[in-house]
Amino acid sequence: MSKNFDVVVIGGGPGGYIAAIRAAQLGFNTACIDEWKNEKGGPAPGGTCTNVGCIPSKALLQSSEHYEHASHSFADHGIEVKGLGLNLEKMLGRKNTVVKQNNDGILYLFKKNKVTFFHGRGSFVKGDANGYEIKVAGATEESITAKQVIVATGSNARALPGAAFDEELILSNTGALAITEVPKKLGVIGAGVIGLEMGSVWRRLGAEVTVLEALPTFLGAVDEQIAKEAQKLLAKQGLVVNLGVKIGDIKAGKKDVTVDYTDDKGNAQKAVFDKLIVSIGRTPNTTGLNAEGVGLKLDERGFIAVDGECKTNLPNVWAVGDVVRGPMLAHKAEEEGVAVAERIAGQHGHVNFNTIPWVIYTSPEIAWVGKTEQQLKADGVAYKAGTFPFLANGRARALGDTSGMVKFLADATTDEILGVHIVGPMASELISEAVVAMEFRASAEDIARICHAHPSLSEATKEAALAVDKRALNF
Ligand code: FAD
Ligand code: NAI
Repeated sequence: MSKNFDVVVIGGGPGGYIAAIRAAQLGFNTACIDEWKNEKGGPAPGGTCTNVGCIPSKALLQSSEHYEHASHSFADHGIEVKGLGLNLEKMLGRKNTVVKQNNDGILYLFKKNKVTFFHGRGSFVKGDANGYEIKVAGATEESITAKQVIVATGSNARALPGAAFDEELILSNTGALAITEVPKKLGVIGAGVIGLEMGSVWRRLGAEVTVLEALPTFLGAVDEQIAKEAQKLLAKQGLVVNLGVKIGDIKAGKKDVTVDYTDDKGNAQKAVFDKLIVSIGRTPNTTGLNAEGVGLKLDERGFIAVDGECKTNLPNVWAVGDVVRGPMLAHKAEEEGVAVAERIAGQHGHVNFNTIPWVIYTSPEIAWVGKTEQQLKADGVAYKAGTFPFLANGRARALGDTSGMVKFLADATTDEILGVHIVGPMASELISEAVVAMEFRASAEDIARICHAHPSLSEATKEAALAVDKRALNF
């Protein structure tokens, strides 16, 4: 096996494995090193996203949504279910199978693209503009060289001080995806993306879920109108979210966790939970890279410092994904990975940060791209807004899921789309049209004039675009 590579990628998550595939497609002799182990100690490439993130969470969101439909909404469709039961072991097993299919898929893609895969930890030994020596510590230890290095070592869950993750009672995303018995009372600290998604899963499966959030506003980064609507809908489902709290002591007992906190009125509170998920954000992972040994610069928050092109301070060393600034999203990591491989090949890879979509996979889903109304106000941009409720959409009525709306924000003068915000059924799929439109710098009028299939949820997108000009047809 060759030990001298054109490109070595450290980390096999969505940033790293995609960068490796693109580099190989461009003709580089490429290796990818990833240390993630499956339960048998074998390789499990795909990083956080595949193993304890996007993929398993969406598998459990889907399963728990089916369960909730069967127990609550099938009856509305005239489907009577008797003797409905939950086999959590099977549900978790299915989730694990989905994860393994993705791990295996990546190993297959490496073979197909002739990317050499190393299972182990990669760390810098030494190097300069002429190349780098990288140690791979796995079942055995070996040394490889690279002309170009792409670091894609991802992120880890951030713990609260004094409340280390034991993954039994105090859970990070890893434990939150593997609870073997539905807890009666589940506490969640942080009403961010993970808190809402995992809180939804376990509430649907029968847990009484209380989410404790430090900020006084719900989903502060989301368009306010959409966030308010989402808050109302999630509360109606029974997800309790307490805003403006200050977390105090957290004590894990033998079978439960006690959380002391101060509520938004300043009153001292004590809550006892069977399990506690802590989802207060993630920290970049540079453990074991020997960044300091080779002088790889980190910023003040521990991210690898990069410029707009993902170049680090070291010649021919790049970094992408969660370990660098910007949103911690799998598709952002992938786009950066592709762009870097293309830049190494002398091409002009580009990531448009203005058109990166966000999706929160609650039910209904929340998705957006571009600016929120509050951002436009703060920036002093003159805009027009148009909204359309799913209540007035025929397909949504047929589905029996009429909650939420689509909202367009367009420049008051040019009509260029500046932001699109959706809370509603299949928002994760609907948002793509808005991303394409914004990438092509379309106007709201462009979307309003495009023929959308009937009956489809996407007609709500068209109608919201029409509403920008106050001429929605069905509302
Ligand atoms: P990672 O996926 O973290 O991969 C890094 C890899 O590098 C890991 O395999 C790690 O073991 C390996 N590694 C680290 N150091 C070394 C080393 N020295 N040597 C060898 N290997 C090393 N994003 C979305 O876009 N959509 C979602 O629906 C979504 N859902 C999520 C749900 C949860 C519960 C969580 C926690 C995250 C979710 N994310 C989602 C975020 C997404 O998982 C991350 O943004 C994405 O995984 C980042 O990719 P990455 O390649 O930068 O890093
Ligand atoms: P987050 O940043 O989305 O949310 C963290 C929340 O915790 C915030 O609301 C914050 O105000 C709150 N918080 C912080 N400190 C707190 C404290 N001491 N007490 C109470 N609340 C506190 O982070 P989260 O949910 O951990 O997810 C990490 C990242 O993973 C996300 O930002 C996202 O980038 C990614 N992710 C993406 C998903 C998706 O795309 N669907 C799904 C899950 C995660």
